[in-house]
Amino acid sequence: MLNFEFKNPTKIIFGKGEIAKISKEIPKTEKILVLYGGGSIKTNGVYDQVKAALDGYNWEEFSGIPANPEYEVLIEALKVIKEKGITYMLAVGGGSVIDGVKFLSAAAKYKGEPWDILANGIRTEEGEGLPFASVLTMPATGSEMNSGSVVSRRATKQKLAMGGPGLFPQFSILDPEVIRSIPKKQIANGIADAYTHVLEQYMTVKTSATLQDRFAESILQTLQEVAPTMLKEEFNYDAAANFMWSCTMALNGLIQKGVTSDWAVHMMGHELTAQFGIDHARTLAVIAPSHYRYNFEAKKEKLAQYAERVWNITEGSLEEKANQGINKMEEFFHTLGIQTRLSDYTSEYKGTAEKIEKAFLDRKWLGLGERGIVKPEDARKIVEMAY
Ligand code: NZQ
Ligand code: ZN
Repeated sequence: MLNFEFKNPTKIIFGKGEIAKISKEIPKTEKILVLYGGGSIKTNGVYDQVKAALDGYNWEEFSGIPANPEYEVLIEALKVIKEKGITYMLAVGGGSVIDGVKFLSAAAKYKGEPWDILANGIRTEEGEGLPFASVLTMPATGSEMNSGSVVSRRATKQKLAMGGPGLFPQFSILDPEVIRSIPKKQIANGIADAYTHVLEQYMTVKTSATLQDRFAESILQTLQEVAPTMLKEEFNYDAAANFMWSCTMALNGLIQKGVTSDWAVHMMGHELTAQFGIDHARTLAVIAPSHYRYNFEAKKEKLAQYAERVWNITEGSLEEKANQGINKMEEFFHTLGIQTRLSDYTSEYKGTAEKIEKAFLDRKWLGLGERGIVKPEDARKIVEMAY
C-alpha cells in the first residue's frame, strides 16, 4: 500500500427531512447567498424547504447555473458576492451547482484574474476559500464531499478542473427524497458517473491495498444492484438512499488512498463535453470501454479481478476473464440506456481524436493515467476506437 494522508472535513447530514437542519449548521450572523440551477428546486419542493430553514437569516439568491457550470455565469455570481458582501454560500443542486460554488469560493478570495484559477490550476489551500455548504439534489459526482470542481467556458470550448483542500463543503445535506423528481435519464447518468469514478481509482495495477479494492468492488456491486430499481417508474426510498450514498463514497477520497489512480477517462470525456455538449456521464461510457481495451496489457490483472469479483466470472484464462469484464461493463452502460460510441451522439465526430491529441499536447498533458501510460497519441487512438 502506498503512503497516504486522509482528511475529509465535510460533515454529512443524511436522510429524509434533514434539509431543515441547515439552520443548525450556519451561524445567524452570516450573509448567505443561495445558488441554484435552472429551477428544478422550485418545482420539487426543495427550494421551499431551504427557504423555511433560512427563516430569520439574512440571505440572497442567485439562479441559473447551467449543467457543466459556465464561467461567464459564475462571473455574474461573483459580482453579486462582492456587491452584497456575502460571507457564506449555500449550493442547492447537483454537481454543476456545487462545482460552480467551489469555483466562486476560490475566486471570491483570489486577488488576480479569476480565469487563472482554471487556466493555471491554482489550488485553494485550507482556510483560503469563502465558506460554503451544499444541499445535494442529484447524486452522481461526489462533489458534495470532495474538494474538486470542473468549470466550462463555452466560447473557447474548454472544460477545466480545479480544486484544493480549502474547497470541501463545510457540510452537505443528502436527503434521498430529492431523487423522486430526477428524470430517469439523469438517474442513469448519475449511476454511470459514480460507477466510472470507482473504475478510475480501481482499474489500474494490481495492488496490496486489499481493503480499498473491496471498498471499490462493493460500491460497483451496490450500484449494479440498485440500478434496475432506480430506473423503474416507482420510487423506492431504500434503493435511492443506497444509490445516493454510493455516489458520495465513490469520490470522497477514501477509495483512492494508498492506491494508484487513472482519471484518463475523465480527461478525454471532458473534451467530448467541451466539443459537443454531451452529458458528462455519457462521455465516460463512450471512452471507458475503448480505454480499457487499448490499455489491456497494463490493466489486465485488475480487469480480470473485476470480472471475477464484481461479475462472478470464474471460467477462462486471465485474458479471457479480463475481456469479459470489459464486455460486462459495456453491457451495464447499455442496460442504463447509455450508448457507448461517439457516433451515437454526434455525426460530426471525425477529427475529434486529432483535436484532443492537440489539446493535450498544447496543455503539456504528456502522460495521463496511472504511470503516465496515456500519451497524447494514445488518447487520439482511444478516442478513434470509440467512434
Ligand atoms: O438546473 P436544474 O433545473 O436544477 O436541473 C438539473 C440539471 O439540468 C437537474 N436536476 C438536478 N437535481 C434535480 C434535477 N432535476 C430534477 N430533480 C432534481 N432533484 O439535473 C440536471 C443535471 O444536473 P448537474 O448538476 O449538471 O448534474 P451532475 O450532478 O451530473 O453534475 C455534472 C457536472 O459535474 C462535473 C461534471 O463534469 C459536470 O460538469 N463533475 C464534477 C466532479 C467533482 N466535483 O468531483 C467529478 C465528476 O467526475 C464530474 O466531472
Ligand atoms: Zn465523473
